[in-house]
Amino acid sequence: MIDTHAHIYLEHFNEDRDEVIERALAQGVKKILLPNIDSSSIDSMLDLEEKYPDICYPMMGLHPCSVKEDFEKELELVEEWLNKRKFLAIGEMGTDLYWDKTFWEEQKTAFRIQCDLALKHDLPIVIHCRETIDETIDLVTEYEDKGLKGVFHCFTGSVEQGKKITEMDFYLGLGGVSTFKNGGMDQVIPHLDRSKIILETDSPYLTPAPHRGKRNEPAYTALVADKVADYLGLSKEALDELTTANANALFFPSEK
Ligand code: NI
Repeated sequence: MIDTHAHIYLEHFNEDRDEVIERALAQGVKKILLPNIDSSSIDSMLDLEEKYPDICYPMMGLHPCSVKEDFEKELELVEEWLNKRKFLAIGEMGTDLYWDKTFWEEQKTAFRIQCDLALKHDLPIVIHCRETIDETIDLVTEYEDKGLKGVFHCFTGSVEQGKKITEMDFYLGLGGVSTFKNGGMDQVIPHLDRSKIILETDSPYLTPAPHRGKRNEPAYTALVADKVADYLGLSKEALDELTTANANALFFPSEK
């Protein structure tokens, strides 16, 4: 399996990061993809990559909750890094009206700038959207004919929204919410395009059942996989194979 979204470079893991990675490997999670947040998270993210180069893969981008007055400066730094070395994707980028609506216009500008960077560097985008799924689908639609690729991470939308996303050739990241009893995803996941679903944890957030409320970690990708396999009527092995192939197609196309 591949945990396509985990922030295990954050301080939540300072006490036991090595054990966290060991537990992930023991559960069959072979790769852990690291979405950046902003200029403050780059050093710890790259330190982790250096320690676990064939397991941890960093992305470069600016999280929508970090889009403030100084977002243009932050994006200059993103661009500098992209010119300096290879990253797996542009992320985590996106839109968020849940936490703060002050910088909505700036969020949309930052979104478009990062889409342009993705096209320039031929990288997929990793999208966070909270209370903004339709607005975000509209933003991606602007790029539909330009060959932009990516994933709507932590997908919790409707069947119809899922369809719009996969018809744009984008992927859907399924995580802890898929395991919540009141999450409603049991009604949605069976109707999604199977060739476009990938697994994630969003560690340390959105911990799947039965550990809800505690810190999340990449080993719990297996808990998400169990639930999704259940909804789709697949064996755990078939689900692992399907979602790993999907994640490889998006993030590691040259290894195929
Ligand atoms: Ni995230």
